Amino acid sequence: MPDTITITDDRTGKTVTVPIEGGVFPASAVRELDPSLFIYDPAYMQTAACKSAITFLDGEAGILRYRGYPIEQLAERSTYLEVAYLLLNGELPNAAQLAQWQSDVTSHTFIHENMRKRFVDGFHYDAHPMGMLVSSLAALGTFYNDAKDIDSKPSRDKQILRLIAKTPTLAAMCYRFSVGLPFVYPSNDLSFPANFLNMMWKVGDYQVDPRLERAMDVLFILHADHEQNCGTTAMRVVGSSHADPYTSAAAAASALYGPLHGGANEAVVRMLTEIGHIDNVPAFIEDVKSGKGSRLMGFGHRVYKNFDPRATIIKKTAYEVFEVTGKNPLLDIALKLEEVALSDPYFIDRKLYPNVDFYSGLIYQALGFPVAMFTVLFAIPRTAGWLAHWQELLGDKEQKISRPRQWYTGTDAREYVPLVAR
Ligand code: ACO
Repeated sequence: MPDTITITDDRTGKTVTVPIEGGVFPASAVRELDPSLFIYDPAYMQTAACKSAITFLDGEAGILRYRGYPIEQLAERSTYLEVAYLLLNGELPNAAQLAQWQSDVTSHTFIHENMRKRFVDGFHYDAHPMGMLVSSLAALGTFYNDAKDIDSKPSRDKQILRLIAKTPTLAAMCYRFSVGLPFVYPSNDLSFPANFLNMMWKVGDYQVDPRLERAMDVLFILHADHEQNCGTTAMRVVGSSHADPYTSAAAAASALYGPLHGGANEAVVRMLTEIGHIDNVPAFIEDVKSGKGSRLMGFGHRVYKNFDPRATIIKKTAYEVFEVTGKNPLLDIALKLEEVALSDPYFIDRKLYPNVDFYSGLIYQALGFPVAMFTVLFAIPRTAGWLAHWQELLGDKEQKISRPRQWYTGTDAREYVPLVAR
């Protein structure tokens, strides 16, 4: 059977045949048929907008790989900084490269004092930490005029380093500001996750528990990339105009802020809190099914239709965290919900399974993070993924400024009506 597709325009009888490669055929086939013919694809459900060699995802089989490495192996054996290097460079670092990379990131964790004293201090006392982070990412770029030099590899590498190193510092700063605690400076003798936990929680003689440090690192690994999701697409779209990476990352973080994307674990915790007791689970499920209630948050995924491999890892991590922190009281409700939903034809028929957010909120809560910080925790590691895609985009000769077409459904041309005549 030939690996081609033939499209016929029945209006003209014109036919075009193009190759199918990796399950994709070029939209240029449509342009060849008729340059004024467009494909209507809201939410890009059936559109591959780029070639990418970073993350492989098979939703039917529940497979997620970064640069070919299964997420399960990376979560078990790697560290976030090693994974960030892998995403950005395509290969795992050797010992010397890893030591250099860790040292480079560590030596870029501090931020300009004016960011804190003049910028972050200017927020209202009850500003949402994610709103603060989004703005801070864009503001950070104003401190580095070389960031505009996106054609220079040394400059791009420098900005990548700065963004990966400084995002946890900004994130912790936004949190400490929102609760009125003094800012804790980065500690260069700590690992990436331990430094973040220290900047978050240091009061008195706080010491990072190594088990929680490892759990934080695993969560960072799981969230580091997820191919062309909403936030990464925002990064690519804004990056395609050759905006600097700080501005592009702020756009990506803005997309992540939405409850259908990075905000879902916050919604899971609210939902579990509302359910309140395992006895209320069956009635809640009935409300979801009848459409009387909300959706079952943390269930379902646009791409994963059998299981989300990250959810399996995160459930295991949840138990490891609870051994240190004590069990999150919402866990029993979550387990009951999962049990009931996974045996109910409504969820089975629609291929709805727990996604990464179903358990991550419970872990974050057990670690002491307020719900408003959940999306911020997602943004920290996703910075590596965003930047890997930004770098790939800039090196892709087939890419241009993003500019989709539209299906115009408005009125035809009409004469302007003066105000007195309306
Ligand atoms: N609870 C109940 N029913 C659901 C759920 C859910 N969580 N998700 C989907 N459905 C139902 C829909 O009502 C629809 O039913 P119908 O065919 O009878 O109309 C069917 O399943 C298909 O749903 P769609 O909305 O078409 O699926 P889509 O792929 O567009 O949505 C999404 C994916 C947004 C993740 C959806 O499953 C959802 O809203 N889940 C809850 C929010 C959530 O957990 N988001 C996190 C995603 S992971 C991330 O961003 C990191």
